[in-house]
Parts: sequence; structure tokens; C-alpha cells
Amino acid sequence: MATDYKLPPGPIFRLWFIRLMQLMPFRTRPEPLLFTVKTFQEYGSFACARVGNRLFFQISDPELTHQILVTHADKFHKDDVLNRALRPVTGNGLLLSEGDFWRKQRKLAQPAFHHKRIESYATAMVEETQRAIAAWQTDQPFDVLFEMTQLALKIVARTLFSADVSDSAARVSQLVTVLLEAANNRIGIFTTLYDLLPSAIKRRERAALREIDALLRQIISRRRADGTDRGDLLSMLLAATDEDGNGMTDQQLRDEVITIFLAGHETTAVTLAWTWALLAQHPEVEAKLWAELDSVLGGRAPTLADLPNLPYTEMVIKEAMRLYPPAGGVSRMPITDVQLGEYVLPKGSNVFISMYVMHRDPRYFPEPERFIPERFSKEREAEIPRYAYLPFGAGPRICIGNSFAMLEARLILATVAQRFKLALVKDHPILPEQLFTIRPKYGVKVVASVREPVLV
Ligand code: HEM
Repeated sequence: MATDYKLPPGPIFRLWFIRLMQLMPFRTRPEPLLFTVKTFQEYGSFACARVGNRLFFQISDPELTHQILVTHADKFHKDDVLNRALRPVTGNGLLLSEGDFWRKQRKLAQPAFHHKRIESYATAMVEETQRAIAAWQTDQPFDVLFEMTQLALKIVARTLFSADVSDSAARVSQLVTVLLEAANNRIGIFTTLYDLLPSAIKRRERAALREIDALLRQIISRRRADGTDRGDLLSMLLAATDEDGNGMTDQQLRDEVITIFLAGHETTAVTLAWTWALLAQHPEVEAKLWAELDSVLGGRAPTLADLPNLPYTEMVIKEAMRLYPPAGGVSRMPITDVQLGEYVLPKGSNVFISMYVMHRDPRYFPEPERFIPERFSKEREAEIPRYAYLPFGAGPRICIGNSFAMLEARLILATVAQRFKLALVKDHPILPEQLFTIRPKYGVKVVASVREPVLV
């Protein structure tokens, strides 16, 4: 895309370099997170990289973010990079659909995420957590990311699809990692060469997708055969009809279900894995959390009614998502030229809003590398600029599951931390990696011990 517009500063990448990089096996490629951070350090919070004849903007400024995600939201679509990576998996589900069709589907799914409805999921969330931790062994190291992934998967299946996936949760968690790796391989602006090459990961992706699709088909067909309205998201999707009285096609239903199934568990699991890693590294925060839990709950399981009395629990989750926002950023493509101050985002360019960078900007978060949940106390949170902290995005395409996720994360944290202390296995590296979500690269290996209640 040739342009005569005035562009913000940024690097120029040679095409051969990008092509070469995309041929490298994913795990050996330069870490995309490093690119994002370096771009910010060198060029600031509005940068433009030229990649061949394409323009790639990186933004980490709250006001510009507001303009893109809210003020001019209707002038942007999800970008082609995200589409190429995810469409083979989630199809035209809520995450990737656009325009009037997206609006209709969002309206359809929204009632399943209303506050009143979400509150009714609280008991299931606590029960599933209790069931999971009942099987934990106190002398055996385990990967708490893997545990949280299975737990979040069971919760999303039970609450939104009234399905029990206990038997397949471990298997599905592994399959999801395969899908994320393959999707990451498709990230990039010029992947034609890569697309043509046969590769083991592509074969594994097709097999993983077939297996997950089979599971979802089973859930859907059982419900169709049963015919009862369970009042959950799946019932809403099955009952939906257009003006002519036609229901959703099987393909669309599959796309919506797999989108919620994937988006609805991976991010929450990653949030909790980071929370456990951070707590284990910050005993002073852990002690404050325990004191709150012990004084409010005194050993019993948390309920929805307890949550207003557990502000520190919520602050811990929010601070973990500041340091490691599960979705490191959101990407868009202008469908028309969009003026932003003195610069223009030309139609068809790639725009990446980096929450990871914005959340670590010392202008909004003093001492940004430190884990300080107190930043999110009522008084101090009010001082954070409105669009500087966005783990769930903003504007019309804000995460539909944000209240669901916050409820779930708080209840899981409270239920587990009531009972257990999780200590990191010595010398196990805790490193972020962007595999669609910002995940701990080697998982979070821990040993659980039953903790003594704090005397209050
Ligand atoms: C900590 C947990 C979560 C985080 C950090 C998170 C983050 C996000 C972000 C940043 C977006 C916006 C993407 C964009 O603007 O391009 C998004 C969208 C979405 N999320 Fe989440 N999410 C979480 C949990 C959930 C849950 C629990 C569900 C469902 C049960 C869910 C379903 C979705 C869907 C369907 C969309 C697309 C919405 C649309 O475009 O209308 N997410 N999420």
C-alpha cells in the first residue's frame, strides 16, 4: 500500500527478512512480545512499521485507543492477520463476524451474559473448583496452568452449554494448545509461502480440530434430540430464528459454539495461572489475601454474596491482568481512511493496540514492573486514565464474557486460596510467551500445601 500520508515514526522491515522469519518453526522465531516492547521503547506510543508495502501501526496511548475502539469503532474491522490465524478454527463466530450480522449474533448471545444470569453460574463455578482441588496431591508437583485450563473448560461447558466435559477436559486442553500454535504460525502479513509447505503442525491442527468438532457436535445433537429449553446460551442459539423464521445453519451454530468454548476458557485459565505465579513470588500479597479470605469466609466456601466483601481478592486478579493481560492486544483494520490527530490510518492498514505495553507505561502505572494490587483500591483505581487499563478491550466489541470471567476468577481464587498455598517448584522458569494469549511459556509448576488459617 503506497501512501503519501504523514506517518508516525517507526522501523522499515525488508520483505525477505519477514518471509524468512515466517518460515522458521514457530518456537524458534523471535518473540512477538519483545518486538512490541522494543517498538514502543524506540518509537513511542504511536508507531508505524513498514513491512514491504504494508503499514503496521502499533498504538499504546489511551486517547488514541479510545478513538479507535469507541469513537470510530464503525470504521474498523478485525484485521486480516487475525482472520487468517483464527478463521480456520472459529469460522464466522462472534469474535470474527462483522457488520449487521455480528450485531444480530451479539444481541442473540447477550442475554446469557446479563448480570442476573451470570450470578446464577456462581454455585457451579465454586462446585467445579472444589471438585478439582479435592484431587490435588500435596506432595506432587503439577502444572497449575493445565489445572486451571481444565477447570475453566468444565465451567464454561457446564454453565453455558449444560454439558459435562469432565472426561475430555484434559484431552481438550492439549488440543487447544495445538490449535493455538498452528494459529500463531499463520500470524503474519505474508504467509503464502508458509501456507504452501506441508508441515506436521498443520496435520496436527486438522486432527485436533476434528476431535474438538466431534465433541461439540455431540453436545449440540444431544441437546437437539432432548429438545428441552435449559435457559442457557446453547438453548438461546438453538431457538434463534431470523425474520423468515429460519434457524441458524449447523455451520454457524458450530462457529458460535467453538468461539465461546475457546474464548471462554483459555483467557481465564491464563489469568489464574499468572495470579498463582505472582502470589507465590510475593508472600506479602499472599498474606493479605489470606487474611481477607479468613476473616470474611472463616473456612467456608465463597458465595456470590461474599464477593462485595472480598475487595482485595478482586484487586489481586486485576493487577495480575495488568502485568499479563491475557489478550496482549487487539487488532483492527480501517475500512476507510481514519484521521487520528495529525496522522491518518489508511484504509487496509494493520492497527495493533498493545495492552501489554500500555499496562506497563510508568505514566499510568508507577513502578510498572512491580506487582502491587493496591493500585486497584477504589480510590487509586479512579486515578488510572479510563482507556489505559483494558484487559477486556473496549467499545462495542468489548469482551462479551468480561463479567463472567471476573466472577469466575474471583471465586476460583477464593476457593483455592482458602485451602492451599501454592509454592513454585524451585528453578522452574516463569516466562511470558505470546501464543495468542500471553501465557507462561513453560506453564507454572507448583507444589500445593494445606495452609493454616490466619488468626483474625
Ligand atoms: C480473563 C478473561 C478474558 C479476557 C482477558 C478476555 C479478553 C477479551 C478481549 C480483549 C476481547 C476483545 C477483542 C477485540 O476487541 O478484538 C474479547 C472478546 C471476546 N471474548 Fe473475551 N476475554 C476473557 C474471557 C471471556 C469469556 C469467559 C468469554 C465467554 C464465556 C469470552 C468471550 C469473548 C467473545 C465471544 C469475544 C468477541 C466479542 C465480540 O466481538 O462481540 N471471553 N475478550
